[in-house]
Amino acid sequence: MSDTVTKAWSELEALPKPTLAALFADADRVSRYCDVLDLPGGAIRFDWSKTHLDDAHVQLFEALAQACDLDGRRAALFSGAKVNVTEGRSVEHTAQRGVGNEASVDEAGRNHAKMRALVEAIHGGVLGEVKHLIHIGIGGSALGPDLAVDALTRDGAMTDVHIVSNIDGCALEEAFAACDPATTMIAVASKTFTTTETITNAESALGWLAENGVSDTYGRVVALTAAPGKAIEWGVDETRVLPFAESVGGRYSLWSSIGFPIALALGWDEFASFLDGAAAVDRHFLESEGFANLPLRAAMADQFYTRLRGCQTRAVFAYDERLRLFPSYLQQLEMESNGKRVTLDGHPVSGPTAPITWGGVGTDAQHAVFQLLHQGTVLTPIDFIAAIQSGDTLDPAHHRILLSNCFAQGAALMAGKQSDDPARAYPGDRPSATILCDEINPATLGALIAFHEHRTFCNGVFCQINSFDQFGVELGKEIAKQIEHGGTTFDASTEALLTAAGIN
Ligand code: F6P
Repeated sequence: MSDTVTKAWSELEALPKPTLAALFADADRVSRYCDVLDLPGGAIRFDWSKTHLDDAHVQLFEALAQACDLDGRRAALFSGAKVNVTEGRSVEHTAQRGVGNEASVDEAGRNHAKMRALVEAIHGGVLGEVKHLIHIGIGGSALGPDLAVDALTRDGAMTDVHIVSNIDGCALEEAFAACDPATTMIAVASKTFTTTETITNAESALGWLAENGVSDTYGRVVALTAAPGKAIEWGVDETRVLPFAESVGGRYSLWSSIGFPIALALGWDEFASFLDGAAAVDRHFLESEGFANLPLRAAMADQFYTRLRGCQTRAVFAYDERLRLFPSYLQQLEMESNGKRVTLDGHPVSGPTAPITWGGVGTDAQHAVFQLLHQGTVLTPIDFIAAIQSGDTLDPAHHRILLSNCFAQGAALMAGKQSDDPARAYPGDRPSATILCDEINPATLGALIAFHEHRTFCNGVFCQINSFDQFGVELGKEIAKQIEHGGTTFDASTEALLTAAGIN
């Protein structure tokens, strides 16, 4: 860590930490810590006023960002430089939405054109009747499509989509039960096209088609991959292999052909709006400096709680059923990106990196886990996400009560409540941020996701880590393979478990 970075952290650690009540003595607090971004699909309000950031912290975090060369690293990211240093790769998910290195934007455009042609051919009946799509992928090849399809097809989908990730056959059987094999296509989504779960599930899906009278099973498969050669070798016809660039990371890949089920369910125009919403946030991230940069502002608060307050988790509650999968999506984005223990140059990090991201949906979570958030002994920074326009057509009372509860939680966490009875007292001074969308649509969902991608990037810059590799997932995969192949002896506990399950 450079001297300037060490100095910025020690200055931050030494600052007084006023309470939220003290910060709200400033009559302009909300106007200065809450900003509205006008985006293609409607505005999104980012309210960070109920966090403990104050002007002194912001000033030092701005200095820390400079000391960590945020500007240089952001420019490198968008230029297509090899910022994923451990794997020697560029990181170009923004090129998928038209922002970044020109050659990469052009390549993404060509890949999107092939994807669009296939989506429109399917919708036009060129490949026969296609009513269902079983999309098979895992991690980044499933979580993004699952979130977007679940969030955006509440009023119906052009094609019925089922996302299957788990190797547990129950997951695939659930999709089989909901689909007619005669009118089902299979999308095999894997950046590497080597992932055991995905290939095993794909083979079982082909078996299911064959058992149910489909003669040309491979003719029903679309491959979404950065390894087109492997997909062709596996049996998919080149015309139905939708490639994307190696420089698009798995957990950032829903903008590429991995987003095929989103485009098939919604139609191409809506998928294009999804990309546009994200691109608008890319431009905001590129063009805004310091505290005015909203992903950076969010990362300042994240660092405040993780490093200066020792918070080991952060919680995200979507007060919107359409966004119920948002917390699971964020878990991979944040924990796989920043759950690291060495810096970019391979030294141990000097402080905590990513907290554990967890969360749920409001109001359900209020009746399950909020007890701890209000009165437990750990401090948990919380994000609330909600939309002004409801997603339902029932009595408006539903949405009014939903939003009232969302805002009430933030207010209650901050204000607390005194009582002579300690069991009934609330300490208060507990932080939250609120992201309030005008509405949930493809563009605002794209914007929300891009905001979190850039926030995660800024957190990685503050921690001086590589947010774009994921070596921590490899060891378990290797041991699983050793178990599968047999012949290796493990610790006594693992051996006993294998024996009990009849695996060895
Ligand atoms: O094991 C983790 C991981 O590599 C993720 O980063 C990735 O999103 C997922 O597996 C799936 O990988 P693939 O798309 O190559 O099948």
